[in-house]
Formats: sequence, C-alpha cells, structure tokens
Amino acid sequence: MCGIVGYVGKSKAAPIILEGLKRLEYRGYDSAGVAVLEDDAFTVAKKRGRVDELTKSTRAQTLTGSCGIGHTRWATHGGVTDANAHPHVSSDGKIALIHNGVIENFAAIRKFLLSKDYSFKSETDTEVLCNLIAYHFAKEPESTTGGSRLLESVRRTLSHVEGTYGICVLCVDCPRELIAARQGSPLILGVGKKELVIASDVAALVSRTQNVVYLNDGELVAINDDEFEISTLDQADVSPVIDQVTWTIEDSELGENPHYMLKEIFEQPEALENAMRGRFSADGSTSVFGGLNISVQDLRGMGRLMICACGTALHAGMVTEYLVERFARLPVECDHASEFRYRNTPLFAKTLFFVFSQSGETIDTLAAMREAQRKGFQVLAINNGVGSTIAREANGGIYQHAGPEIGVASTKAFTSQLIIGAMLALHLGRIRDMSFRDGTEIVSALKGVPDLVRATLKQAAHIKAIAQKYAGFNDMLFLGRLELFPIALEGALKLKEISYIHAEAYPAAEMKHGPIALINEECPSVFLVPQNEIFNKVVSSMQEIKARGGPIIAITTSDAELPEGLADDVITIPACHEAVLPIVATIPLQLFSYYVAVERGCDVDKPRNLAKSVTVE
Ligand code: F6R
Repeated sequence: MCGIVGYVGKSKAAPIILEGLKRLEYRGYDSAGVAVLEDDAFTVAKKRGRVDELTKSTRAQTLTGSCGIGHTRWATHGGVTDANAHPHVSSDGKIALIHNGVIENFAAIRKFLLSKDYSFKSETDTEVLCNLIAYHFAKEPESTTGGSRLLESVRRTLSHVEGTYGICVLCVDCPRELIAARQGSPLILGVGKKELVIASDVAALVSRTQNVVYLNDGELVAINDDEFEISTLDQADVSPVIDQVTWTIEDSELGENPHYMLKEIFEQPEALENAMRGRFSADGSTSVFGGLNISVQDLRGMGRLMICACGTALHAGMVTEYLVERFARLPVECDHASEFRYRNTPLFAKTLFFVFSQSGETIDTLAAMREAQRKGFQVLAINNGVGSTIAREANGGIYQHAGPEIGVASTKAFTSQLIIGAMLALHLGRIRDMSFRDGTEIVSALKGVPDLVRATLKQAAHIKAIAQKYAGFNDMLFLGRLELFPIALEGALKLKEISYIHAEAYPAAEMKHGPIALINEECPSVFLVPQNEIFNKVVSSMQEIKARGGPIIAITTSDAELPEGLADDVITIPACHEAVLPIVATIPLQLFSYYVAVERGCDVDKPRNLAKSVTVE
C-alpha cells in the first residue's frame, strides 16, 4: 500500500526514483510525487494520477539533485488531490517527508503544531508528521547524543507518534543525509556502488542492486552519502545483515504481454513446478518441507490446524482446510486474519498455526500471526515474499517461489498456495493414516498439474468468447461445492475486483435458502460442476436456476456428462484428482474475469480503489 523510494548517490535522483515508483505503482496509484534537494531548497513535483503523468511533467523532468525521495499514494487520510500527494514539506521549508501508514494521533499533534505557528496545506497525517520533525529539528540545534541532529529529531518525533509508518526524511540543512524508519510498513535498503536506495518493496531496487538489508519494525536507518547506520528507536545499534535478492528486473517486466495479470495467469505452470521442486520424498509417496522447524513427532501430536489469511489467500486456506480434513483427518479452522486478531478465539494447546500471504506484508495477517505468537504458538507461513515481514517473523514455513506478482488481482500466487496446501495435506496425511498407495497417487496427481494447467490455458480463446458474451451483465453468481466452494468465492472475487461486476458465491445447494430470489435472465450463474459423488446434486441446482430463466455457464470435467442444453455455455477442464481439481478449476475463472474486464475497458492491473499488499488496517 503506497510506494516509497529514496535515493542518495552520485547520479540524478529523480529518474531513478521515478523508475522505482513506476515499479511500485501496483502498491497504490492515486497520485505520485518526487522531491529532490537542489541548491539548499527542495524542489517538489507531485500530482494526482499515475507515475507516467508525473514523469512527463516538465517539473519532474527538470529535477537535477542527487538526493531525493518519491512516493505513489493510496489515499488513507484526505482525498485524492495534488495537495495531498507526497512528498510533503514542512511549513518552515526545512523537512521533506514521504510516508506509508496511518498516524492515529495526528489530530492532537496537528493542534499542538498550530499552537506553535506551523501551518498546513493538506488534509494528511503525513504533513503533520513532517512538521513535527521540523519542530524538533528547530528546537534542538545540537545533537545531544552524538548522532546526527536530523536522526535525533526523527527519533524524538517518532516517540510521540501512535500508528504505523514507513518514512523517508530529508532536510535542507543536511544535504547528503536521508533518514528512514519503519513501524508496521515495510522498508528495504538497497546497498549499491557508491549509492544507497531505500524502498518499500525490492521491485524498486533491483534495477540498481541485488544487495539489500531488510529493516525491522522499530528500526531507523541513517544514510549519509554512501554510508549508512541502523539503530533502534531506543538508540541501540543494529548490525546490518546484507541479503541477496534472487530475482532480477527481467522477472518483473511486462514484455510483450498486454497486462501483468495475463502474463501471471500464463506463468502458472512454471510457478506450480517451482512450488513443488525438491519437495517430494525419494519413494514418491509424500511431500517434504525443509523450513517447518517442527519435528515429525510434534507435528503428529497436533490436534488441530488453524489458518489465518485475507482475500484470495484466505480462499487458498479454505481449500487447504478441506484437503487436510479429508487426507489427514485433522480438524481445521480457517479464519479471516482481521477477525481472528480481535475475536480472541479459544485455541486448543496442540494447534498447528499457519498464515497464508503472497506479499508477506498484509497488516491484518501479520497482526493475527503476532497475536498467536503472543499466546505462545509457533506460527508457520506459506508466503511468496522472501525477506518480507511475515517471512522474517514466522517461526518457519514454506516459500512459494512463484516469482514477483505485480498484477493487483492475485493469480499465480493463489494456485501456488493451493498446491502447497495440497502438499501440506498430503504430508499431514502420510504421518497419520494415509497409505503409501494413496500417497503415491496424490504425488503423481500433483506432479501432473502443470500440464493440466497448460492444457486448460489452451482454451483461452474459447473462454474469451464466453467472457465477451457475458461482459454486459451487472450481477453474477458463482456456485460450487466441497473443495470448489472456495474456488467459487475466488471466481466471484476476481470478477468483482477487476470488472466491477457485482458477484457473489455460494455453496450450490445454499441457493434454495435465499439467493435464488436473485435469479432471472439478467443474472447469470457460473457453476463448478465436476464429475464426483455429488455431481447429480449440483445438476439439480442447475435445473432450479434454468427453470427460473437464469443463464448458466458450466465449468465441468471431461469425464462428466451434463444434460443436453442445461448450460448455455460450457468450459471443459481435464478430469483430475480432487487434490488438484481446485487448481485446474481456477484457470477458467481467472481467464473469464480477465477477458470480461478487458471487454468492459477496465484497468485490469490497477483496479479502482485497490492496491497490492494491504499494509494498513
Ligand atoms: C485479490 C487479492 C487480495 C489478497 C489479500 C491478501 O486478488 O490479491 O485479496 O489476496 O489482500 O494479500 P497477501 O496474500 O499478500 O497477504
């Protein structure tokens, strides 16, 4: 949520910052801005709209300084206006600031600053923070601890702040200094050759350097020219650990693809292979994970599995719930991370705790994880963000290795979580009652899934034609049962978030209990209807919709025989094992929502009001 880039080096800062912002735009795209230090003053270029518009502006093109900060915004405090865009400059002109997060006590600080003759041009909490730093900087002409005066002013300011932040601060009196700090919002320092870059996401750094330091909550980094020091809010020194980013800038390039979402949909076979690589036992009967940090004996002793996640990741958790209960006969509860955190659910002592998160930065999921840890649980993470906050704070887990996901609507990270969830179910099953034979059957089904996905992706043209036919509708229902009910939820979520069509999902049999009242010729239903033990039950639900004039799109398996004429449109996916069916059934839903959104002229990769990685509550 919001993107941050700061640069201190020998090159012109603005082009580097703007390029970084472009790569962070999926984090927020209401407005963008950049400030550089030039001749003892800040020059600021900022406006509502996209980074491209800012880059083309004459003001942005004329910035020359080699020390600067930039921001893409996802509005929290204050509307989407030029004035509310970051960076903000203090009313005395001394301090420039960019900020991710929310300052909860901003009203009290604002009142205090007004009494000290500071003034405000925007409605943001960020401008309040900026002026408070200026206030402390003016008040303490000398450093009292031997640290830099700017660093101390920032530290003092932050001790008065309640809320979350990732900030970068510049000061006209300290021309080669940049101070950054984090509490609840990610920040990463890139250590380049004679230059330092700070950003909220590695995507903004990898074109400059692969060497990074992940900052922890409560830490500040003081950059002075090409040197840096990390310390805590309590003034303790921190020894930096320099990590290597494993992916390169090419991995996050759009290439010939019209949208990241389409690129990422088609990357799924490889993402699935990467999720499985090196994770099966030599006898081919189970999955193995190196990073769980829990013995087989302890795992065997667990009486319950609890999964917390948000949005699409929650749907992956729900499929995992179904598969773990089926294969391992272990009771599972899957909860919205945002609800788990506050509802104080009673937790059985022998509970295995998992969070699922693509980014590893979702604040609700992080908070749920910390709450469980506070209660003494070891929390494991299924996570795609190497070096992310969740990855670092979890007690162990499983990396997805899906590669960077830039499209705001999650696709490849979802199916990657599905396959890891299925492998986890297999693992938990095999240390309990699952036979060698059943284990090998599931392993071979899992290994076959990339090819099944490739085969399903070949139907893109057929799915596009169906999507074009239905793109004009304003309401849609998604219906599935058992392990495909969460897939119906995911199909509805994908459609609404990128095409703004109102969509809801239900277990198919629930229709009769209320939602069927919505059905008429204006409300199509997408049915997930594979051949399985309740195929006929789902067909009956389809009949009930048909009888009321509702159009039907059926997604069915190649071994099923739907009654002639029951569905208006049919998409056939390969028949497959129930462990992998959710993955294969997801593909047509992703393509359907993508092509509907394109047909409606929507901005697929940057849907309105959304941002990738939700780092505010
Ligand atoms: C929807 C989507 C979101 C995320 C959710 C959690 O397409 O991407 O619903 O799944 O915000 O994000 P992560 O997985 O990063 O924790």
